[in-house]
Amino acid sequence: MTALTAPSIGKYLGTNLHLLPQTDQLRALHTVIRDRNARREDFVFHSGRIIRLLIEAGLNLLPYEPHDVRTPVGSEYHGLRLAAKLCGVPVVRAGESMESELRAVCPGIPIGKILIQRDTTTKLPKLYYTKLPRDIDERHVLLLDPMLATGGTALAAIEVLLERGVAEQNIIFVNFITVAEGVSAVCERYPRVRIVTSSIEERLNENAYMLPGIGDFGDRYFGTDA
Ligand code: PRP
Ligand code: URA
Repeated sequence: MTALTAPSIGKYLGTNLHLLPQTDQLRALHTVIRDRNARREDFVFHSGRIIRLLIEAGLNLLPYEPHDVRTPVGSEYHGLRLAAKLCGVPVVRAGESMESELRAVCPGIPIGKILIQRDTTTKLPKLYYTKLPRDIDERHVLLLDPMLATGGTALAAIEVLLERGVAEQNIIFVNFITVAEGVSAVCERYPRVRIVTSSIEERLNENAYMLPGIGDFGDRYFGTDA
């Protein structure tokens, strides 16, 4: 969280990089899930609350158009409505932890899948499987992955979307925590992709895990760390 002082990524804030307001409530939620002794149900519940905030922040970045309605007392309300077709794409596995919150906010949203796993030794991403809506090139994509560490997985996932014709500026990467290396990797290669996150971590360790970090998000969320 102190890493925002890193001049290398400060320049991306507010344009490419959208950091949730660092409120005491958010920090309290993070405190629960960062505790190594957190019970799984607490991890899932409290991370879910943060994911909801992230999804809402991602939806703020979409285009809206004027839409007037008449109120029950006969006045006109000059409102807005979403002016884009949407799609969610979780990076399997950990990204699937974000899917239910997206579905809750956007019922009926088409959901694609990209399965990428980091090799446990080299930490390099390997693409195994892709299934995306046929018309994804006409959609704005909320790409879901809670962890942006070295950036290898995110770059591979973005590459898949671009190959399927998605416009770079139509990709919003909804992410739980990140670190300068991951932000730089994405923003330098794909400057029109926007990242929404709840925390910028201090650094990566020698195993490409973020510090202070959360540990292995997928294992903790899905209970495979026992
Ligand atoms: C984790 C995480 C990201 C990736 C980030 O996935 O969910 O996809 O690591 O790391 P990177 O930025 O260094 O590429 P992992 O491959 O561990 O699989 P999982 O989803 O099954 O936990
Ligand atoms: N994946 C995780 O689950 N955690 C990290 O810190 C980095 C990658």
